[in-house]
Amino acid sequence: MARILTGIQSTGVPHLGNLLGALEPGVKLSEQKENTAIFFIADLHSLTSLKDTAARVENIKSVAAAWLACGFDTNQGILFRQSEVPEVCELTWYLSCFAPFPMLANAHSFKDKSAKQGLSEVNAGLFTYPVLMAADILLYDTDIVPVGKDQIQHIEITRDIASSINHQHGEIFILPKAQVEEQVKVVPGIDGQKMSKSYGNTINVFEEEKKLKKSINRIITGSEPLEAPKNPDNCTVFQLYSLLADTSEINTLRNAYQEGNFGYGAAKQILFEKIMEKYEVPRQKYMTFMQNPESIETALRLGQDKARAYATSVLDRVRGALGFGSII
Ligand code: ADP
Ligand code: TRP
Repeated sequence: MARILTGIQSTGVPHLGNLLGALEPGVKLSEQKENTAIFFIADLHSLTSLKDTAARVENIKSVAAAWLACGFDTNQGILFRQSEVPEVCELTWYLSCFAPFPMLANAHSFKDKSAKQGLSEVNAGLFTYPVLMAADILLYDTDIVPVGKDQIQHIEITRDIASSINHQHGEIFILPKAQVEEQVKVVPGIDGQKMSKSYGNTINVFEEEKKLKKSINRIITGSEPLEAPKNPDNCTVFQLYSLLADTSEINTLRNAYQEGNFGYGAAKQILFEKIMEKYEVPRQKYMTFMQNPESIETALRLGQDKARAYATSVLDRVRGALGFGSII
């Protein structure tokens, strides 16, 4: 039985890149009987960058609603809010006392932001971000962590800290492995770069129909005349469609591009219809959950009770090994 764990920060409404790159593959993994899936909303991590309280609450709701709308079964797996298992903060402290300063100073999460914004603009939370992430992982005896490529370094840091403690204090921690879904491509945003909240180029599948259509219409394309044959392979509209449609549909669109007399407006309309078709049920479910926050809260509470039971048993093991707790 493998324990699979992953977290998503509550920094916005999950977009198409998040769905194809993280939520949908996560739900698939959770459906395999041999796995225990532990998924959480990394709301403590979000505080490193997001200071707006109302936005955080709304984002937590929306990330949870997205997991549920994508079909995550909270009776089989565990879905919870990171902050509701405060044991993670205690473990963060223990781990931070074994985390060499240069290792954290070299972490991309800190290095990139501090280089861009200047040291005076970054906070200590951002510096210790990878230690909190290591605590997230080690607190649940995690075997496998499905993540995007950008997170691999954090899993290496987790393994380094855990190995160092194991070496000095006995086998306390399980060493986790990162699982990077190679077949899940980077989903492009409306400007052709990687789709990301921070680039403002997202397609928000859960948005109201009109707004969704607008963002699809804003996808940057070539400017060849309608009659001209077009190259599908360097068109973002075609790339997005290819991530959602089946082979014969993809080939039909490819031919239309290559034959000419087919404009980008028509391609965008086809993409829009595909998104509406594929996400019809998740969109309805998402809306229902968002309108009934009690149902989200119930799902999260069920998860946090189960998560806490795992967490307290691992933390007892750590406390004992490090000499905290009862002296007799
Ligand atoms: P963002 O870049 O919008 O802030 P996050 O860093 O919060 O997204 O990513 C959450 C999860 O979604 C991660 O597992 C990440 O790998 C995945 N993800 C984000 N954007 C994309 C994308 N464009 N293509 C594929 N996966 C993505
Ligand atoms: N840092 C991750 C991200 O930005 C989110 C995260 C927090 C996470 N804790 C985790 C992912 C533990 C996997 C495991 O995407």
